[in-house]
Amino acid sequence: MQDFFNSELASEENNMSLKDKLIADKMPQHIAIIMDGNGRWAKGKGKFRIFGHQNGVSTVKTITEACAEIGVKYLTLYAFSTENWSRPAIEVRALMELLVDTMRKELPTLMKNGIRLSFIGNQSDLPEKCQKQIQVTMEETKDNSRMNLVLALSYSAKWDLVQAVKNISLDTLAGKIDAADINDKLIDKYLSTHWMPHPELLIRTSGEKRISNFLLWEIAYSELYFTEKLWPDFTKEDLYDAIYDFQNRERRFGKTSEQLSS
Ligand code: FPP
Repeated sequence: MQDFFNSELASEENNMSLKDKLIADKMPQHIAIIMDGNGRWAKGKGKFRIFGHQNGVSTVKTITEACAEIGVKYLTLYAFSTENWSRPAIEVRALMELLVDTMRKELPTLMKNGIRLSFIGNQSDLPEKCQKQIQVTMEETKDNSRMNLVLALSYSAKWDLVQAVKNISLDTLAGKIDAADINDKLIDKYLSTHWMPHPELLIRTSGEKRISNFLLWEIAYSELYFTEKLWPDFTKEDLYDAIYDFQNRERRFGKTSEQLSS
């Protein structure tokens, strides 16, 4: 009888979603994701790469919903890097159209769920239609406060650092800041991410283990999580897995374990 109960309990525990094991007050405030593997996913199914991106959009919806449900406040997705401009023109055009279409179609869902959509990156590089849709979506969702969904578009960390350095130099020359006051807090203020906390957790899908010019400054102390799953296959449970792993790490910020426990 005892064995029966023990095995029932064990199987109940096994059947528990990882979501139930997450600790609410250790939830990362900000998760950043490098959504990788759409092309390989499509190729594996004998389809064109854009089919992978289209299915990637479904994962964006699933993961945004999951983050909102568990109380993550900022979700930043690497949707198109500065370097992605050198992809075949047909793929770039299809991706831009997919972005505009998705923003337009998903606006009611963003409103219903209290999600504010924001962007980081060099918007002036984007096609006019895309820039306009970004303006409309940002304006419509600006008062939503449940969660921030941030799309990095025509973004690279080096681009952001260069524009920050240029603006710091200009403000120094104009006498608005003193060179002696330049420190990491000031640099933070000049980055396009100045209004959000740095991500505590960075996830990359598809088995690649690199950062690819994403949020280099902001992830100085982020926990990195790499998974073999291709982005279109990434599920809510995979997200909980990543957060569970994050919650069980010791974040020392340069201190010793002993200092943390005392
Ligand atoms: C990386 O996979 C993915 C991208 C460069 C684009 C990601 C874009 C989407 C999922 C659409 C986003 C839409 C919204 C609205 C956020 P890859 O093409 O590099 O895949 P591969 O490494 O297998 O070739």
